[in-house]
Amino acid sequence: MDFYRNNANLKWIILAVSVFISIGSIYFTEMLVNRLEEREKDQVKLFAHALEYTINSTQNDIQFIQEEIINKNNSIPIINTDGRDSILYYNNISLNDHWSTDKKYEYLRSELREMKETYPAIEIILKDPETHEVFGKQYVYYKNSFLLTELTAYPYIQILVLSIFGFISYLAFNYSRTAEQNQVWVGLTKETAHQLGTPISSLMAWIEVLRDDPQVKNKGIVEELEKDIRKLQVVTERFSSIGSTPSLKSENILQLVNRVVSYLQPRVSSKIKIEVYALSESIQAMVHPPLFEWVLENLCKNAVDAIGSTGTIAIKILRGNENKVLIDVSDTGRGMPKNIIANVFKPGFTTKKRGWGLGLTLAKRIIEMYHEGKIFIKDSQENTGTTFRIELKSA
Ligand SMILES: Nc1ncnc2c1ncn2[C@@H]1O[C@H](COP(=O)(O)OP(=O)(O)OP(=O)(O)O)[C@@H](O)[C@H]1O
Ligand SMILES: [Mg+2]
Repeated sequence: MDFYRNNANLKWIILAVSVFISIGSIYFTEMLVNRLEEREKDQVKLFAHALEYTINSTQNDIQFIQEEIINKNNSIPIINTDGRDSILYYNNISLNDHWSTDKKYEYLRSELREMKETYPAIEIILKDPETHEVFGKQYVYYKNSFLLTELTAYPYIQILVLSIFGFISYLAFNYSRTAEQNQVWVGLTKETAHQLGTPISSLMAWIEVLRDDPQVKNKGIVEELEKDIRKLQVVTERFSSIGSTPSLKSENILQLVNRVVSYLQPRVSSKIKIEVYALSESIQAMVHPPLFEWVLENLCKNAVDAIGSTGTIAIKILRGNENKVLIDVSDTGRGMPKNIIANVFKPGFTTKKRGWGLGLTLAKRIIEMYHEGKIFIKDSQENTGTTFRIELKSA
């Protein structure tokens, strides 16, 4: 039980760390973006000043400014307009050579509209070089460079990639864990069945010897021993079936249930009654009898434990829709609170002193993997009782 609680905690810790990393990454990039934005703004200002200077100057150093400042901007998209909003100059806006002049013009206007919405224009004041009289204005519009735009999107792309990666690793981890568990189940059961085989056949030979012994004859000992050996054979068959892929057969469910009940009833306290109800005597379903009986036995044993001293176990065989056969196992036992219901099918979960927490895990495995059916808790009320439901495909 602790393992599962720790495991759930681990999931939350990993989630919290991922959220922390994501927020950190967004925050850090945001800082970078802000700094880069400032720098680009300064660059555009410098560009605008240089432009203003070259327009208003009569000096010969214009060429240097033109080459070193104005033409050096090769990343920030810029549009320079006159006082009447006509485009005089643009830079770092890629126009397709195949476009018509109209199309190019349209594109530039739309870029300009976008720039106007992004940042305020930088003014260029036109002055007469000699009288310094102001005779007009121009405007420089700009928007973020491609690099800056990319950087803004970067943390989101990073988070997306990380989540996809995390999701895939989680699936892979889960898959490998299940595969590992399967290997342990199959290996262990096969080995057990194999090891039981030899002593059982030798016991059977010994019974034949005893049968003829005059001292043992007619005392009922051989018959009792035979029953025990038969049970051992059933157990071996269960173990070997779970280690292979058992084939399903159409079986009469009522007969099967009655067989299990007649085995169990003499073995439980006489104060616990096991009752069987069937909607019809001829309900058939696809099952592998040795494994299916094992499931019923486990459910009944749990019911007996839940009841304690006096009570009833009711097994109802019903027909469901979509060709399903339903088997409800109800008890008048102590029932379960919600936090237990959520865990009963997990391997190793038990509330019993001597329990292994394997009975229901095994039942689930047998019903879901070998019978392609379902098993679940239909209802459980504390101090009133519990009903487990099995859904099988009808024959
Ligand atoms: N009919 C029931 N009524 C109340 N509680 C139940 C019932 N069936 C199962 N449980 C609860 O589910 C737990 C898990 O059951 P499961 O059969 O898997 O293991 P277990 O009975 O504890 O041990 P094991 O079957 O391996 O000997 C039980 O310990 C019990 O708390
Ligand atoms: Mg059990």
